[in-house]
Amino acid sequence: MSSAVRFHDQHVDATGVSFRDDAIAGLSLARKRLAPKYFYDRRGSLLFEEICRQPEYYLTRTEEGILADAAEEIAALVGPEALLVELGSGASRKVRLLLEALRPRRYLGMDISHDFLLQSTRRLAADYPWLEVHAAWTDFSERLCLPVGLEGRRVVAFFPGSSIGNFTPTEAEAFLARLRQALPRGSGVLIGVDLVKDRRVLEAAYNDAAGVTAAFNLNLLERMRRELGASVAPDDFRHRAFFDTAASRIEMHLVSECRQALVIDGHRFDFAPGETLHTENSCKYSREGFQALARRAGYRPSAVWSDAEGLFSVHYLASG
Ligand code: TRP
Repeated sequence: MSSAVRFHDQHVDATGVSFRDDAIAGLSLARKRLAPKYFYDRRGSLLFEEICRQPEYYLTRTEEGILADAAEEIAALVGPEALLVELGSGASRKVRLLLEALRPRRYLGMDISHDFLLQSTRRLAADYPWLEVHAAWTDFSERLCLPVGLEGRRVVAFFPGSSIGNFTPTEAEAFLARLRQALPRGSGVLIGVDLVKDRRVLEAAYNDAAGVTAAFNLNLLERMRRELGASVAPDDFRHRAFFDTAASRIEMHLVSECRQALVIDGHRFDFAPGETLHTENSCKYSREGFQALARRAGYRPSAVWSDAEGLFSVHYLASG
């Protein structure tokens, strides 16, 4: 049994400079905000796994059901011997639903969370001895390229979890277009996209009763304290998530409960009571709306699967 993982260090920022600079830049805006990728330190990645198990968070189990049911059809579209690349591989759980049907020779997990990436890809390698497992520590929102030795192979890029919704539609289109440029001819993208639905269902998913999403959101402030030595009182902020119908997105914020200041490296950021730090968007699409976006990014949408209730969609986009 081989549990060796071929590790590729593509991380542009091993020093945390970008977290510091992005935090300062985002907090300096009139409407304070921070990029969601900073949620995913080790604790954040673990909390996110827990979000996925919450009863209100229908996304994960629904997507897993769709993938399990469609695995053979997906395999037929992708064809044999593709390189399976997972973007934001996290615990590498969903990909297990595809491996037996797809039988790729190689798998590459890409993630921003270093230890988490190593641990999950090692487990994958141990469980699938026939699979050549690669791991790339990378911020794929900044930089998208296949590691040396893997270039030129036909790819199926797997982007589950409706992470694409964490970009605005304009950013999502640009990201997908860049991804397409990075993929060799004959490649495709298998992507999970959450669908627009009753706002009560949407809002419950981002406000679980156990408070895991709140803890996940607040972890961002704790991370600032741990890694940037920030002076901040996470207890004086609370989690807020709501659906904005016009923008078709869940917005997530950290709301300041009082007048207070957050200080990073001598930079002081004042919060009025009720003022928020905008931490996340989760855009929701219709099937057709997402296909149109994919076409604008240069793809040919060639299949879409959904669950019986129409909660979630999985698209296969041919790269051209
Ligand atoms: N891609 C996931 C989503 O939009 C990410 C996510 C779920 C998330 N819950 C979250 C991100 C809570 C931040 C906070 O559903």
